[in-house]
Amino acid sequence: MDDVIYLDHAATSAPKPERVAARIARYLQEEGLSAGRGSYRRAVAIGQEIEAGRKKLASLIHAESADRVVFTTSGTEALNLALGCLWKEPGHVIVTSWEHNSVLRPLAAAADRGVTITEVEPRADGRIAPDDIRAAITPETKLICCVHASNVTGVIQPVHEICELANERGILSLIDAAQTVGHLPIDVQEMGCSLLAAPCHKGLLAPLGTGFLYMQPGLEDRIPPLQFGGTGTQSEQAVQPAELPYRYESGSRNVPGLIGLAASLEAMSRESIAGDANHQRELMSFCLERLGEIPGITVYLPELPEEQRVGVLSLNVDGQDPRVVGTILDEYFQIEVRTGFHCAPQAHRWLGTAELGGTVRVSFGSTSTREQVEKLAEALQQIAASF
Ligand code: ALA
Repeated sequence: MDDVIYLDHAATSAPKPERVAARIARYLQEEGLSAGRGSYRRAVAIGQEIEAGRKKLASLIHAESADRVVFTTSGTEALNLALGCLWKEPGHVIVTSWEHNSVLRPLAAAADRGVTITEVEPRADGRIAPDDIRAAITPETKLICCVHASNVTGVIQPVHEICELANERGILSLIDAAQTVGHLPIDVQEMGCSLLAAPCHKGLLAPLGTGFLYMQPGLEDRIPPLQFGGTGTQSEQAVQPAELPYRYESGSRNVPGLIGLAASLEAMSRESIAGDANHQRELMSFCLERLGEIPGITVYLPELPEEQRVGVLSLNVDGQDPRVVGTILDEYFQIEVRTGFHCAPQAHRWLGTAELGGTVRVSFGSTSTREQVEKLAEALQQIAASF
């Protein structure tokens, strides 16, 4: 494993920090209990550990209170839950060309309930112009969905301005923070978003099977639960409790995932996240500089200012199928990247890479190094030269 260079952190962070692995191992070997159900001390303690994680996450994103953070099993589940705001009030939704299928597909499935969509394309620099969103608003617009940073190119979008615009018009805003939470400092109140969804297994370094939805106060009346059932609270009632987070958290929790999240968050602060952002900017600048020296490589949106990009980058070796390049990187150089469409088809249509089979995506995490970037550049140089 030591020889493998993992550059697919946009899919999930790997490996997980030692403190996360150690806590989960201890849980599995010595505890293995459910949380929020039994009243014996060990089960109560596990529940408290999960709630400490919720509190820490709420404080990291500056949510009004911990109960505004609803745990889900993935970013996709969090987005689906958020899009429930359209079930009672269907109407027009604005999306950007950078959205992931976890937004596009639930919206497509809601077409027969009266949900219509307008896609706003980015300007030439890859950024969505708030004026273009403004121009797309109609009297029927109920929701604006915007990914905070693209999982294809890493371009950070002007979400503060977009949320402000939505708030001025009384429209809800949903921010997909899959590629930014844990990598960029996020303040949901300053951003002004109605809803913010993300997985916890990427920048927050928790195990797969964890995600969350931040919900602005007052929205719960407009968003039904995705599932109903036991919450361990108000068990004498036959109807779902109205209180957050229980309204949305039915069934036995993913305890190993959530205590892993709590262990990871213990080591995180707004300062450590800002440090990670700097680390990724430095690596990306170095990577762009090295890739720019290699003939036969196309990097998408290379001119972006470094503060407008997270550690995600798309490229192609000219004339080569990205999947073939990815296989060569893996089998000959032990470099792991993601290739293809990255579940974001409209992004590739806009980039002009749909006909090429997508792109090769390189993505960094907190453990990525300059040495790894150097090895990637050397490998791509050899691949480009051999074709
Ligand atoms: N959405 C994740 C990615 O971009 C899985 O790889």
